[in-house]
Amino acid sequence: MDNTKEKVKKQFEHAGRNYRDSAIHAKGRDLEWIAEEIGRCPSPLLALDIATGAGHTAFALSRCVRRVVGYDLTPEMLRIAAKEAEQRGIDNVTWAEGDAERLPFPDRLFDVVTCRIAAHHFPRAERAFAEARRVLVPGGRMILVDNYVPEEADELLNRVETLRDPSHFRVRTLSGWTRLLRNAGFSTVTVLRKWETPVVLEEWFQRAKTPAHRQEEALRTLREAPQPTRELLLLHPPAGPAQLILRKGMWIAVR
Ligand SMILES: C[S@@+](CC[C@H](N)C(=O)[O-])C[C@H]1O[C@@H](n2cnc3c(N)ncnc32)[C@H](O)[C@@H]1O
Repeated sequence: MDNTKEKVKKQFEHAGRNYRDSAIHAKGRDLEWIAEEIGRCPSPLLALDIATGAGHTAFALSRCVRRVVGYDLTPEMLRIAAKEAEQRGIDNVTWAEGDAERLPFPDRLFDVVTCRIAAHHFPRAERAFAEARRVLVPGGRMILVDNYVPEEADELLNRVETLRDPSHFRVRTLSGWTRLLRNAGFSTVTVLRKWETPVVLEEWFQRAKTPAHRQEEALRTLREAPQPTRELLLLHPPAGPAQLILRKGMWIAVR
């Protein structure tokens, strides 16, 4: 298995509970936007949530659709998600283990596929998107949510992200994600929303359990960045600690 995927399993075995409890993951407004995008709720649709993590997107979908499959590479994340589902009394989500770049599902099975805050871990995101398209019914929709980076900060932010979490592969620019979806064969690709979520750097490192020496290197990299890049990436509130500006986008891609 690719090196990045081994790193993913190690990282999420190690820090999985933090992702279950993280407000960005558990409570983002984008979970409501995904549900809105499904349209009529409840609906008879079948959904697949790729890289489900602690299951937050699968749980949001479970309120709208008939059945959800929550799919992830890391068995520990699936255990955390399944336990959480049981505690919440959610009984229409099934869990499956595997790689986003090779889906063990037949063609044209799902009405909706989601992938939220995870594709930046995929070494071949275009292959994962092509797989998502393959398992969608004609006219079915993929909803992608992920961080994007302004072109000017591309190299630097990806360097900082990898210092924080070695299983990070690459965040793309807004047009970079759109291009990957188009290249995967989707007929229409639309950026539905863009927003910013500033995160306190210290909390961001804590969530990924970044060792101190790598935190220091990441902070130094940010400190020594050219001023225009620093201004793009950092907020210094008058009261309170420095924050990193994470930019997020939501795409709808139709098969
Ligand atoms: C930040 S979590 C995902 C958050 C989740 N989607 C949510 O909405 O809260 C990232 C997840 O991606 C999974 N992952 C990373 N690479 C993967 C791959 N190639 N195939 C499947 N899952 C993968 C990790 O195991 C981890 O659980």
